[in-house]
Amino acid sequence: MTTPVLQTDLPFAERIGRGKVRDLYVLGDDLLLIATDRISAFDVVMEEPIPGKGAVLTSVSKFWFEHLASVIPNHFLSTDVDAMDDIPEEYREVLRGRTMRCKRAEPLPVEWVVRGYLTGSGWKDYQATGVVSGVELPSGLQHASRFEPPILTPSTKAETGHDEPISFDKVVDLVGAEIATKARDAALQLYAKGHEYALARGIVIADTKFEFGMHDGELMLIDECLTPDSSRFWPADEVKPGGKPTSFDKQVLRDWLAESGWNKEPPPPALPEHVVSSTAETYRSICERLTR
Ligand SMILES: Nc1ncnc2c1ncn2[C@@H]1O[C@H](COP(=O)(O)OP(=O)(O)O)[C@@H](O)[C@H]1O
Ligand SMILES: [Mg+2]
Repeated sequence: MTTPVLQTDLPFAERIGRGKVRDLYVLGDDLLLIATDRISAFDVVMEEPIPGKGAVLTSVSKFWFEHLASVIPNHFLSTDVDAMDDIPEEYREVLRGRTMRCKRAEPLPVEWVVRGYLTGSGWKDYQATGVVSGVELPSGLQHASRFEPPILTPSTKAETGHDEPISFDKVVDLVGAEIATKARDAALQLYAKGHEYALARGIVIADTKFEFGMHDGELMLIDECLTPDSSRFWPADEVKPGGKPTSFDKQVLRDWLAESGWNKEPPPPALPEHVVSSTAETYRSICERLTR
């Protein structure tokens, strides 16, 4: 396996951002979205890389962008760095597998969260009020119950700190009614199609987050798509109302962090090797199961 990458520094392109996981550069007219091996939990980036994670996020996203292209246009151009003449050869090694060349968009300031099963903050809200993000759900649902139709529970895309849930009316205020409706419909369709595909491979996508942006006046799907960082994946055979399915994501890390007594403020504690390797294995296996 190639050497893990925590951060990139590319002198031949202009860096315009560094998120929790991705480094963003402008190259020509396009964007290079580089998934490093960084991992975050509770919105804090850990100090250790998860070997192979960036490559998993990139290949899972690429797979979905191709599979879901009929729903709405997306930003995907290519992951083949060896075919990109404007990337100097000596940088291709570090970028191979983790780099997505994309159309550069103006991101909408909204996280388009879709939920098809009751869990996480939706489950908490439902227990307290019977309502999730303004949508009244049938009574008697339990943890991990599926509900139809899936619902959109948007949140703000905060520059720093934690994202806040917002109503659809607020989304309309932020981006206008036409774009809000289009993006909502697309998010629900993307989820439905992705869910159906994954279910046939024994995986339930309990919930996920999409991002959309504007490029040349056109609304498009951007960022990552249905990855273990943006979604909650469960083994289908463990999913039943009242159940507690194991998560195919950062659950091992989150559980270990919770046990460690860490206060969720930086700096994070040093991760033991078994947490790193078991997290790496979880990412590899979800990629296998979805894309093979
Ligand atoms: N096509 C695009 N054009 C412009 N910005 C994009 C595009 N795709 C993704 N982005 C932005 O790139 C960033 C991805 O980096 P990431 O590490 O996931 O950030 P975050 O910590 O905000 O989740 C996000 O802020 C996302 O909005
Ligand atoms: Mg992100």
